[in-house]
Amino acid sequence: MLTKDEAVAIQSDWDRQQEVYLPYREEAAGALVDLVRAKGLPVRVLDLAGGTGTLARRLLARLPEAEVTLLDFNPVLRAIAEASLPGVELVQADLSSPDWVDALPHKQYDFVLTMTAMHCFAAEPLRRLYREVRGILVPGGIFANADRMIDDGLPGFAEPVESADEWVRWWAAIEAHPVLGTLVGQQHGESADFHPPVSWHVDALRAAGFTEVGTLWRRRDQAAVLAVSAPGAPGTRRSSAPPA
Ligand SMILES: C[S@@+](CC[C@H](N)C(=O)[O-])C[C@H]1O[C@@H](n2cnc3c(N)ncnc32)[C@H](O)[C@@H]1O
Repeated sequence: MLTKDEAVAIQSDWDRQQEVYLPYREEAAGALVDLVRAKGLPVRVLDLAGGTGTLARRLLARLPEAEVTLLDFNPVLRAIAEASLPGVELVQADLSSPDWVDALPHKQYDFVLTMTAMHCFAAEPLRRLYREVRGILVPGGIFANADRMIDDGLPGFAEPVESADEWVRWWAAIEAHPVLGTLVGQQHGESADFHPPVSWHVDALRAAGFTEVGTLWRRRDQAAVLAVSAPGAPGTRRSSAPPA
């Protein structure tokens, strides 16, 4: 069995190893959380490809009454999120398949937020995913994606790629864990490692039907793009349905 305390400790260790690769990750999470806090309650948020729950945890620490869904397809990371974040609705679904929308517990969200995950998708699947995200936002709802994406004018500002030692260490500990180790074999999917500049995301989000699109936050080669679904604009799916 995975206790809450143990899952919280493993989640924190995930953050430590991720910070080796993405040193401004905490700041990026703060920028996303501030967006939600500025709207206030009631608020429904989807943490897309939320992994162990880094973003959901920070959001609930600042806004405990927020209604949060976390979606991820990795059974190990999802199990850690499930045990450490009892108030969060967990969904195991593959974002490569359009069916992921049907797996959600709600039809519409005020915010869809994602951190350091959209690089897993190649260009065409990511364009499609952006359209699908727009379809589950309330009119005026917000999507934000924080990831490694260079400023088009500053291609030389990319951070050097760190060695994979910390990643290997974290996964070796998981494999040795009596509960989580059994889930390792059920993982699937390869990252496309697609890191286009911020202009690519802005163009793709506009093409997906978002009306206001721009950069919310930036630090060196990491940035967060923000996209607003036009008030009253029809989504790609179920746009006229009231929130479930
Ligand atoms: C680098 S991790 C980031 C996790 C989390 N957002 C964070 O910041 O800690 C990338 C995440 O994307 C998830 N992911 C990648 N491809 C996916 C897909 N097709 N469907 C669902 N989740 C996916 C992975 O399982 C993993 O949790």
